[in-house]
Amino acid sequence: MEATSKPPQSSLSLPWKTRITLSILSAVTDASCRKNGTINRRILTLIDFRSPPTSKSINGVASHDVVVDETRKLWFRVYVPTQHAGEDLPVIVFFHGGGFVFLSPDAFTYDAVCRRFARKVPAVVVSVNYRLAPEHRYPAQHDDCFDVLKFLDDEENRSKSLPENANLLRCFLAGDSAGGNLAHHVAQRACEFNFRQLKVAGVVAIQPFFGGEERTDSETRLAGTPVVSVKRTDWMWKAFLPEGEGFNRDHPIINVSGPQAVDISEVKLPPVMLVVGGFDALNDWQKRYYEWLKKSGKEVYLFEYPNMCHAFYIFPELPESGQLIAQVKDFIEKISSNVYIVRIK
Ligand SMILES: *[C@@H]1O[C@H](CO)[C@@H](O)[C@H](O)[C@H]1NC(C)=O
Ligand SMILES: *[C@@H]1O[C@H](CO)[C@@H](O)[C@H](O)[C@H]1NC(C)=O
Repeated sequence: MEATSKPPQSSLSLPWKTRITLSILSAVTDASCRKNGTINRRILTLIDFRSPPTSKSINGVASHDVVVDETRKLWFRVYVPTQHAGEDLPVIVFFHGGGFVFLSPDAFTYDAVCRRFARKVPAVVVSVNYRLAPEHRYPAQHDDCFDVLKFLDDEENRSKSLPENANLLRCFLAGDSAGGNLAHHVAQRACEFNFRQLKVAGVVAIQPFFGGEERTDSETRLAGTPVVSVKRTDWMWKAFLPEGEGFNRDHPIINVSGPQAVDISEVKLPPVMLVVGGFDALNDWQKRYYEWLKKSGKEVYLFEYPNMCHAFYIFPELPESGQLIAQVKDFIEKISSNVYIVRIK
């Protein structure tokens, strides 16, 4: 277990700028969630700041969009660090957060996060626009993300969408919140599929969104901390799960380590980097995920941020945000040095 340097605080302290942004985001997203389980996407246009792709390098990173399947609006944005042209680079396939309901790769916040990963690691980043709930329910999100891996595994698609120096044998699946849930499950699914050139070398699960029927201690104790509340997560899981009988929050996609958990002891899951925040109401679920991976014999590294709330790392003004990106860089380098790197031509 690895901890960060500052001692734990008894209450969350954030700069006022971050607090105000978080309150505005929460107020608008709450207002968009209707009681009948549908979403008012027009309200969301109030906070809908988008970034276009930039074919010219800005701050050392160029980006472009690639369509996978027009009919379901499945596309991804590729970020290329332009100052590393001759170097063999890992590929980070990134899944954004937002409770499976909100946001997209071109959202201002996520575009900025992916640019930082591309520049700092450095890596070629592929940020996936998966379909959102409740308009599209599970397994639409997981299918879309997995289909992007299959798309990239095709040589013709790969050569058209990624730069020559992107090494798919060093492919990392990363995401935060709902994206962390996707990273785990898509990696698990990838273990049962024969890719021709792609290899999932590691998983980066940043404050992954898991849950269950039970109310955990952290959900109760940390009620009132930013972003996550039981009221919001209940609404999101309801929007996410398929309609009909027999589905509840103990679904194995949600309560990964719960009573319906899949036995992964024989699954060759790659090493997992797990990030947990002390003021994130989801942290009990995330720690159970950690214990479950360990019990199943998997390689997992826990990074605890005792003073941070859910989604902290999207705020570049927090020093912990930069620290997390540096830890992702270290993880990718460490795992890469153990991966047998050959280029398939
Ligand atoms: C939910 O409520 C909205 C707004 O009141 C309405 O337009 C919509 O048709 C309702 N949908 C369902 C499925 O009940
Ligand atoms: C969810 O999983 C945990 C194990 O991590 C289990 O203790 C719990 O009973 C499950 N279901 C509920 C009701 O939350």
